[in-house]
This record gives sequence, structure tokens and C-alpha cells, in this order.
Amino acid sequence: MTDASPLVARRLAKTYGDAQNPTVALDGVDLTISPGQSVAIMGPSGSGKTTLLHCLAGILAPSGGTVTWRGAELGGLSDAQRTALRRDDFGFVFQSGQLLPELPAEENAALPLLLAGSERPHAVSRARQWLGYLGLAGMEQRRPGELSGGQAQRVAIARALVGNPGVVFADEPTGALDRTTGYEVMHALTTATRASGAALVVVTHDPEVARWCSRTISMRDGRIIGEAVQEAAGGQAAAAPVAPSAQPMVAPTQQPAPPAQPAQTAPQAPAAQPAPPAQPAPPAPPAPPAQPVAPAGTTPWGGAR
Ligand SMILES: Nc1ncnc2c1ncn2[C@@H]1O[C@H](COP(=O)(O)OP(=O)(O)OP(=O)(O)O)[C@@H](O)[C@H]1O
Ligand SMILES: [Mg+2]
Repeated sequence: MTDASPLVARRLAKTYGDAQNPTVALDGVDLTISPGQSVAIMGPSGSGKTTLLHCLAGILAPSGGTVTWRGAELGGLSDAQRTALRRDDFGFVFQSGQLLPELPAEENAALPLLLAGSERPHAVSRARQWLGYLGLAGMEQRRPGELSGGQAQRVAIARALVGNPGVVFADEPTGALDRTTGYEVMHALTTATRASGAALVVVTHDPEVARWCSRTISMRDGRIIGEAVQEAAGGQAAAAPVAPSAQPMVAPTQQPAPPAQPAQTAPQAPAAQPAPPAQPAPPAPPAPPAQPVAPAGTTPWGGAR
């Protein structure tokens, strides 16, 4: 990403329920996430991880404190502005990918761009590039029911990245998978997100998964109670033990996308700038439109389900 402004939470608080029966889910969280950084959020059930993720992503309004993204405080934005921000700047991966069962993989992955108004050939081309990068070449026409759980999650990762977001939010993206498949998916997520230049905020219960991130935040009772920095996380994630597939990870280019083929020789990110067809990847440039996001209660990218 070209915009270096981080995602910043200050004194973030969230209380559910009413005055008679309050549940304090967040109790003064301070957190700064830099561009390209990967942050694992860990903690026991009920400690506030999902609530934090949703507040950071503008899905949920906090009861107190602020979230600022690229200089704009989310609470000061209109609903339409927040929706546009989630659509254009954020990507989302959930525990079960929430793919649309009737759509083939390439259309599921292209959905955010299609909903944002991109031309169909461009959107599908970008989706296919990401699917290929994530080891799903040849499976573009399969519907979610024809994919394994791990493959379906990689489609969800492609969908999260197709719009070149500044941050990818993932809530237990491997929680519904066996451990080996979970590692494959986590490897795909960390590697692809890093290749795209986006930051990653991922909730996980698995300390091994957290090791692949550059930071781990530990939560309890709505507070951050500890933080660990993994010095070598970048290299670790890139060299994670299980490759997502037999296929090499070759990232698509992030250009507003000529339907032309991207360079397919070395790992590189989907670039956000016009990239000539046969060149090595340029450094991550500006972000084109990404996935639209629905208001709270629906999907963050457009409320399809
Ligand atoms: N919509 C809601 N209404 C009322 N209370 C809620 C709501 N969502 C979450 N909570 C409560 O807020 C607290 C934090 O919930 P949250 O879902 O953020 O936890 P979590 O760390 O993600 O847990 P898990 O690991 O089980 O997913 C919990 O006590 C939970 O019961
Ligand atoms: Mg949760």
C-alpha cells in the first residue's frame, strides 16, 4: 500500500446489553497496526477478540474510544462512508468462508469487485489471478460444494484480497479445518496477504499459527494483557512448513487490471498499478477498489448473505 497511515485504536471500549445487564467486551484497548504488519489476536473464549476485530473493521460501533484508519476516525464517518471504507480498504475472511454456494469459485472471488462496479472481465481476471496464486488454478469453475474446506477458504482469501485492501481481517479462518489443512490455509493467508502489501489482523486459538505473524496480542476480559513480537515472522511465514498446494505461489499483479496475463515467473503480489504483462512485479502501489461491505449484521463486503 502506498498510504503509510496505520490503523489505530485508542481506549477502545465496547459494552453489550443495557445498564442493568452489561457485558464488557472491550475495556480500553490501545493498538496500532502498521501497513503490511501481521497481527495475531489470541485469548480465551469471550475475551473480546471478535468484538475487537469488528470494531477495528468498522463493522461494530464501539461504546467508547476511537478507531482511526488513514487519518479518518471511523466514528466520524457516515454509514455510507464506513461502508465504502470497508468495501475499498478492508478484506475479510471468516471461519467458514461464507461463499455463495451457487457461484463458481472465480465469481465468489470476484464478488467484491463486481459489487464495487468493476467490469466483469476485469473482476474475473483478477479473481483468477488470485486463485492461481493460491494454488487453485483449474478449479475456477467449481462451486463451493465441489471444493474441500481448505480450498474453499483459499477462495475466501482470494475474495478478501481481490480488491487490494489495506487490511485483511480474519476471524479464526482455520477454526473449522483440521490442523494440517489449517496450516495450509494460514500459510496461504499470511503469504498472500504479505505479497499484496496489506496488513493482516487474524484471530486464532493456535499458537503455531500465531507464530507466523509479526506480532501476537493476548487478550483477556476485554483487555490486551500481553504482546509478543516475532522477529523472524516474515521469513517464517514465507517458509511455513506446509505449502498451500503443489503449485507455486505466483501473485497476480495489482493493476486496475488489463485482462492481459500477469507475469507468472516469480512470487509477486497482485499489484495495484498498471503492470506490463511480462515484467517482474512492481512494488505494491495504490489500492484500487476492493470489496464492498454491508452494514453490521450482514457480510462486510455487501450483504449477500
Ligand atoms: N451481540 C452480543 N450481545 C451481547 N453480548 C455479546 C455479543 N457479542 C459478544 N458478546 C459478549 O462479549 C464478550 C466478548 O465476545 P467476543 O465474541 O468478542 O469474544 P471472543 O474472544 O471472540 O470469543 P470466542 O473465542 O468464543 O469467539 C463475551 O462475553 C460475549 O458473550
Ligand atoms: Mg470470536
